[in-house]
Amino acid sequence: MSVYTVGMWLYQNGGGQNIQQTMQAKLRERNINTIVDLNLKDARSQQGKIVCNDTVMEELDLFFSYNAGQQTQYQVYLYQTLNRAIPMINNFDAFALTEDKYQTAHLLNRNGITTPDYHLIHKNDIDGLKLAIRQCGGKVVYKPTEGWGGVGIVKIDNEQALDMLLPFISKTDLRYFYVERFINYDNTDYRIDIVNGQYIGCYGRKAPKDDWKTNITSGGSIFVREPEPEVIELAKKAAAVTGLEIAGVDIIYDREREEYVVLEVNGIPAFATPEQEKIGLNFNNKKVDAIVDLIDSIVTKQTAIKAA
Ligand SMILES: Nc1ncnc2c1ncn2[C@@H]1O[C@H](COP(=O)(O)OP(=O)(O)O)[C@@H](O)[C@H]1O
Ligand SMILES: [Mg+2]
Repeated sequence: MSVYTVGMWLYQNGGGQNIQQTMQAKLRERNINTIVDLNLKDARSQQGKIVCNDTVMEELDLFFSYNAGQQTQYQVYLYQTLNRAIPMINNFDAFALTEDKYQTAHLLNRNGITTPDYHLIHKNDIDGLKLAIRQCGGKVVYKPTEGWGGVGIVKIDNEQALDMLLPFISKTDLRYFYVERFINYDNTDYRIDIVNGQYIGCYGRKAPKDDWKTNITSGGSIFVREPEPEVIELAKKAAAVTGLEIAGVDIIYDREREEYVVLEVNGIPAFATPEQEKIGLNFNNKKVDAIVDLIDSIVTKQTAIKAA
């Protein structure tokens, strides 16, 4: 029986350390050893090898990269390089795609999945921007394409708001505007976790009073939420289109058009924290098991390919 080695880099806060230990134990039962804390920030590369904490990354059977928060360009650069040599979860292409809101929305649309109407416009094309706002019914959300946690997302609901924003924007090194139609919704969303095409769990987030952003970092709160089958199906489709092995799909209900829309697909959806588990978010075990199954199937398939 072969023994495999999988590298891991998993966030340690919010219960991450426990998740990591559980995952290590479950992988061990399947003859899969783990090397943890492989942060590519600490890696150096030369002569065909990326070495991180004395581990030659290319010799791993798989690398599981699951650390929330933004990665530096250096980490992402090595992520991309490494994925040419070994399988990674999430795979680099899907990870890179979903780091970008415009590219994700565009691909989802091309595949028939409803997102908010969106417009990408060159930064000098103010006429185009004004037209886009009109086409969106006068209310848009401006979003940095690579942001997270609701940061930098602003509502523009009249020309004055735009005129106020423009001088500020012209000072930044921005290349384009990305705006979405402002969706009339009840200020709650669904976060659906999908692993390897399988539905794992759901919770809801509610924006704070007088706010329309549901992000926890914007003061949003989490609640237990049972999703309609339609919502699960939509999340599964969205995850499949992005190619993410592990996905957290954010969905809201458009009250005006009476339909669900996919807001974004996240590549590193957090496990439930111990506090969230206490209020009833109980999908962690299912998620760990699905990830362990997936890792197992990928590393054993790899060996079959090498042997053939
Ligand atoms: N088009 C939209 N219409 C209405 N609300 C939106 C729209 N886009 C985003 N929001 C609100 O803003 C929050 C953050 O937007 P999102 O695209 O998920 O970016 P982030 O990566 O910063 O979380 C969402 O959770 C939602 O509450
Ligand atoms: Mg979001």
